[in-house]
Amino acid sequence: MSPREVYVYKGFERFWHWTQALLILFLALTGFEIHGSFSFLGFEQAVRYHRVAAIVLMVLIVFAAFWHLTTDEWRQYLPTLTNLRAQAEYYLVGVFRGAPHPTRKTVLSKLNPLQKLVYLQLKLLVIPVVVVSGVLYLVYRYPARGGMTGLSVDGLETIAVVHTAGAFLLVAFLIAHVYLITTGTTLTSNLRAMITGYEELHDDVAAPVSTPPPAPASPATANAPAR
Ligand code: HEM
Repeated sequence: MSPREVYVYKGFERFWHWTQALLILFLALTGFEIHGSFSFLGFEQAVRYHRVAAIVLMVLIVFAAFWHLTTDEWRQYLPTLTNLRAQAEYYLVGVFRGAPHPTRKTVLSKLNPLQKLVYLQLKLLVIPVVVVSGVLYLVYRYPARGGMTGLSVDGLETIAVVHTAGAFLLVAFLIAHVYLITTGTTLTSNLRAMITGYEELHDDVAAPVSTPPPAPASPATANAPAR
């Protein structure tokens, strides 16, 4: 079974991925400037840019949700316990010993069991918390304009803490994500795939990701990458 170039990430998927990554990075930079962590643009400018980027992100989320639902790609995130432990052990130990990947990427199942779990939580929990608290923050700041005067100062404090906690989680995810993309077949194979859409996968592209790759036939192939 020789690997071949397979079109894994579609045009919109790559556009959405990179735009979301840039927006979250920009929102983190402007957000932590608002928070007072450092000074670069100046508070006023940081607030202005943060609000614009937040609105662009929300528009992107609407389009991405529509794309996931209409293409059935949302199924990629359905969690599974199969091989979850093996995947965690691979990231904790195996990856440092050059062990083969415990699961194999396919077009129908692009995410390994751990990615499914983490990305699902990100989409259903962390991003919604950041967006909802951000919107509440937005309308609180301008009660006269938005006509919302019911939010108390206590409420604002809670909103700010929740929003900042969500921001910390997103930044932690970004850091882990950047490290983990280097753990593909080669250092840059995952990065290249998300740029070009193509990745070298094995012939059995229809096999589910929860299927472990077959045991190496001989010692000569024992160290061949699994994906
Ligand atoms: C749709 C998404 C978002 C909306 C609507 C939003 C909105 C806001 C608003 C209105 C503020 C207060 C600015 C002001 O003083 O007027 C704020 C602060 C902040 N935002 Fe966002 N934001 C969003 C996404 C993000 C993301 C993705 C991050 C980081 C990854 C982030 C990080 C922060 C931080 C750290 C602060 C400062 C909180 C504080 O110290 O009070 N935001 N955001």
